[in-house]
Amino acid sequence: MTEWRTIIEPFRIHSVEPIRMSTPAERAGWLATAGWNLFGLHADDVIIDLLTDSGTGAMSRDQWAAIQHGDESYAGSPSWFRFQAAVQALFPFRHVIPTHQGRAAEKILFSVIGGPGTVVPSNAHFDTTRANVEATGALALDLAPVLPPDAILPFKGDMDVAALERTIAEVGRDAIPAVFLTVTNNSMGGQPVSLANIRAVRAVCDRHGLPLFLDACRFAENAWFIKLREAGQAHRSIPDIVHEMASLVDGMTMSAKKDGMANIGGWLAMDDDDLAERCRTQLILTEGFPTYGGLAGRDLEAIAQGLAEVVDEDYLRYRIRSTAYLGEALAAMGVPVVQPIGGHAVYLDARALLPHIPPLEYPGQALACALYEEGGIRGCEIGTVMFGRQPDGTELAARMDLVRLAIPRRTYTQSHIDYVIEVVERVAARAASLRGFRITDAPPALRHFTARFEPLGG
Ligand code: F0G
Repeated sequence: MTEWRTIIEPFRIHSVEPIRMSTPAERAGWLATAGWNLFGLHADDVIIDLLTDSGTGAMSRDQWAAIQHGDESYAGSPSWFRFQAAVQALFPFRHVIPTHQGRAAEKILFSVIGGPGTVVPSNAHFDTTRANVEATGALALDLAPVLPPDAILPFKGDMDVAALERTIAEVGRDAIPAVFLTVTNNSMGGQPVSLANIRAVRAVCDRHGLPLFLDACRFAENAWFIKLREAGQAHRSIPDIVHEMASLVDGMTMSAKKDGMANIGGWLAMDDDDLAERCRTQLILTEGFPTYGGLAGRDLEAIAQGLAEVVDEDYLRYRIRSTAYLGEALAAMGVPVVQPIGGHAVYLDARALLPHIPPLEYPGQALACALYEEGGIRGCEIGTVMFGRQPDGTELAARMDLVRLAIPRRTYTQSHIDYVIEVVERVAARAASLRGFRITDAPPALRHFTARFEPLGG
């Protein structure tokens, strides 16, 4: 196939949502009212919203049409059977348990398999996964090697297999209810995990008789990276690669708000009959009957159709290329970004861009607020605001101070992204004038959602 310099959006726009334009002075006022916390803004006051890629994508014509087929029968709805078939076409597990989003699947699974004294190793737990593991009294361990943000490696999301072996030797296999692999690895830059790594982790789990689960939120993006980057995989179809990923594990948790291409939804899947029965019992307490979980029939239809669309190669080529387009443009202007560019987001290295702002004055917060004030772009601080508070109430610098610019699926065009590049360029040009922040008010846990800030004087 011809290699074009411009990979176009493989869709036309059929229905539009207005973006309300605003001025820097208006945004400065809204920011102050929100206590300089971007979660506190009205979304109408945001021009380009890159807070998350979760549930924020555009659905297709065929998904909206599928919604009309939604059947809201309490039990045994045809929409459930379509959903189950679509999940099993990619992930042929015996049991599929629908939930309202990913964290509900995590909550159910860990409340069944976790508990005090247990340890759940992963390449990198997402924050809700970690919170759901820890809420049962279990320990959540991240076993991806610590690599410099600018180190360019094809599969930077891989688990350190030797560290897994050491963990099993230290805590004993009986303390480990399951090993997890998050694909792609969101907490550390949206980096993929190779098939070779999944196979190697599987081999360790087999030797010790341990179950292996995928947190599969961005499975299609991960499979596309395998096709592009892993030796011997280029000829394979995406569903074929996904089947192999599924065949190497015992089960999965999933948020359909990512690679389910839907605005809500998720599931838990596994082969183990006994575990499935215990999870379904929990499901009924909080989510609903096992043929709808926490979802309406129409949601099940939208996800079933979304799963057919997300493995399309034209879509994935555009998806991964358009994220890289943003990251490469920023890197070319000298803006420090986590390398290589991940699947769903570009991560700006605020600590490197703002070396004059110490971590405890929150350089990520300073950069995220400046991007909003300059151009109405909303990103997300992933750094000392999110992770700095210790259980004893003291504060430590997080490992990195990043700002994540997450790209909603099929939502923004190349000109929106060109505008984002221009805004970052302007903010980077006056980086030395940016000031840090202090927190004026924060809840004891998950403070990044609701904390209020104040800019430090100049
Ligand atoms: N696992 C990963 C890797 C995630 O990125 C997320 C959500 C979840 C689990 C939980 O899924 O939101 O459906 O309950 N990530 C979003 C984000 C919120 O912005 O990265 P959920």
